[in-house]
Amino acid sequence: MSIQKIGVIGAGLMGNGIAHVSLLSGFEVTLVDAFAAALPKAVATMTKNMERQVAKGQLTEDAKSAALARLATSTDYHALKGADIIIEAVPERMEIKEAIYKELKEVVSETTILASNTSSISITRLASMSGQPARFIGMHFFNPVPMMKLVEVIRGLATSDETYEAVKALAGKLGKTAVTIHDAPGFAVNSILCPMLNEAVFTLAEGVASVTEIDAAMKLGAAHPMGPLELADFVGLDTLLSIMQVLHKELGEDKYRPAPLLAKYVEAGWYGRKSGKGFYDYSTTPPTPTR
Ligand code: CAA
Ligand code: NAD
Repeated sequence: MSIQKIGVIGAGLMGNGIAHVSLLSGFEVTLVDAFAAALPKAVATMTKNMERQVAKGQLTEDAKSAALARLATSTDYHALKGADIIIEAVPERMEIKEAIYKELKEVVSETTILASNTSSISITRLASMSGQPARFIGMHFFNPVPMMKLVEVIRGLATSDETYEAVKALAGKLGKTAVTIHDAPGFAVNSILCPMLNEAVFTLAEGVASVTEIDAAMKLGAAHPMGPLELADFVGLDTLLSIMQVLHKELGEDKYRPAPLLAKYVEAGWYGRKSGKGFYDYSTTPPTPTR
């Protein structure tokens, strides 16, 4: 399976990053989102991030223009016809992903690979929903995609060797290091990292320390590049809550219980950076804690 054309569904935090690295790696990219407003926003984000790379001498202006010229955007899944691989990066909700895979049955060819960027959901289950389990795989990028080297590659029970080898080779062409992980809830990183982020919310709710104190402590005491609450806002509180709900449901242990305060913030629409407010209010510089 030679991959030349990459489709990406979901133009949000992750979809725009996956499109960014795919364009800079020479691929043609079609980026699809159900909401028209998300597309110009994603193109603006990619352009800004590429301009940052040009300013640092990591990318020429011509290479940036050529990369962006290889990008097509649409709100119609049929624009993905002809893609050799379609990477799905829509919200971490089973029902949204399942609905998309149903739509894609009219779009995929006999050889199209479907890859999910899911943070936690069973690849085997998503594969069975897709109707093409042999050509379905988990290709889990990390945020921000242009900066994080890791791609977790997760085979479903029926993923073919050909699909697996093609996706590992693609990860390398995108400048990433593919690490093969077993199809378990949260895979490797998130089953370790997200309970820590969730624990930081419990720590906040119990009044052990303030938002800024918790983040400062972990940056100074554990050399984390971002504090856990800052990182939770960066990932998206809606996404973090979905991941914890998957871990709690699939693994059944109380240690994965989502912090009630996290659920409260999501109920309020406080999703973090992407909604402008989470544990911090991003309308100020520097961002100010919201409690
Ligand atoms: N998109 C693209 N590039 C970005 C970026 C973004 N959102 N934010 C920063 N960068 C780039 C900058 O261009 C800069 O690049 P150069 O070094 O080439 O100049 C570099 O990152 C450093 O940026 P800054 O100096 O502005 O900020 P920083 O030094 O604090 O780095 C960071 C920012 C890379 C995000 C860093 O804080 C970090 O690594 N944080 C931890 C991120 C993390 O843990 N990610 C994993 C989350 S879990 C996940 O992704 C899985 C899941 O399923 C939820
Ligand atoms: P996001 O909310 O930033 O973006 C999701 C995008 O999908 C939005 O632009 C939305 O308009 C679009 N969308 C929603 N429903 C759609 C549909 N039916 N068809 C097409 N587009 C639709 O979410 P995100 O943070 O980019 O997460 C996307 C996926 O990637 C999730 O499965 C998440 O778990 C995973 N992931 C997230 C991170 C992270 O740090 N945020 C890291 C790795 C993996």
